[in-house]
Amino acid sequence: MIALGSDHAGLELKREVMKYLEEKGLEYKDYGTCTADSCDYPIYGKAVGKAVSSGECEKGILICGTGLGISIAANKIPGVRAACCSDCFSAEMSRRHNDSNILAFGARVVGSGLALKIVECWLNTEFEGGRHARRVAMIED
Ligand code: RB5
Repeated sequence: MIALGSDHAGLELKREVMKYLEEKGLEYKDYGTCTADSCDYPIYGKAVGKAVSSGECEKGILICGTGLGISIAANKIPGVRAACCSDCFSAEMSRRHNDSNILAFGARVVGSGLALKIVECWLNTEFEGGRHARRVAMIED
């Protein structure tokens, strides 16, 4: 199960992500926002961060205007490793080396074509473990 969250700035792109996940047969749960009214991104960063850290959802995807505020908020939740990515290489490496469990990006930074490619790279890349597991454990400590 993939947890999704966005503020008003990320809402339209989140809907594109939902469509993409549906097409791929992947299950998701939307933690809001659900309207275009202006809202506060920390609410949704926290909600998705908690869903992932509790194990309720395996991974999460967060979208705001830049991807920055919402990822900073999510990273305050213990166990969350949210990576804000605007390119496929970073998204892939955030999985391989950092075991990122939340992907964030900005709807005012990337277009929907690139955003969906980033999602695809991120979802299809495994954590390499080994020496990277030690480093990730150091972050958790
Ligand atoms: C909202 O205007 C904007 O500040 C927000 O979506 C995000 O970019 C914050 O980091």
